[in-house]
Amino acid sequence: MTHRDPDRDALMTVAREAMAKAYAPYSGYSVGAALECEDGQRYAGCNVESASSPAGLCAERSALAAAVGAGQRRFRRIAICCSEARPAAPCGVCRQALIEFGDIEVVSEGSKGETYTWTLSELLPDAFTLPPRAPHSPPAAPA
Ligand code: THU
Repeated sequence: MTHRDPDRDALMTVAREAMAKAYAPYSGYSVGAALECEDGQRYAGCNVESASSPAGLCAERSALAAAVGAGQRRFRRIAICCSEARPAAPCGVCRQALIEFGDIEVVSEGSKGETYTWTLSELLPDAFTLPPRAPHSPPAAPA
């Protein structure tokens, strides 16, 4: 029997709403993502493609930029949904970008409801890290 987690369901709903805004004219593959912060706030993102494909952005890093840009650094999990039946496993670049902020749960749902769950460290074992050389806080605002 599957136990429903209301927070997880709510996070997936936010990811689905973001997926509806995906800009994916080249692949036709829409993705939405939503990050749940330790304080319970949720931040969403969608994939944003470009005629110059390397300039495109995945939904996961789009959600990460929204969250970090809002001052968040501590996350519990990320929900991902996509327009294909097979749930999306985050790409390598997104795995590396997310693990910067710790080992969180990754829940991914396909268009027919199939769901995969991993930890980020399962998806990216032995991640590359660097010791931070600057304080992890924004500079003080000018007086
Ligand atoms: N994509 C994501 O946004 N997240 C994933 O987890 C997998 C791939 C996007 C990138 C591109 O816009 C499209 O899906 C096809 O690769």
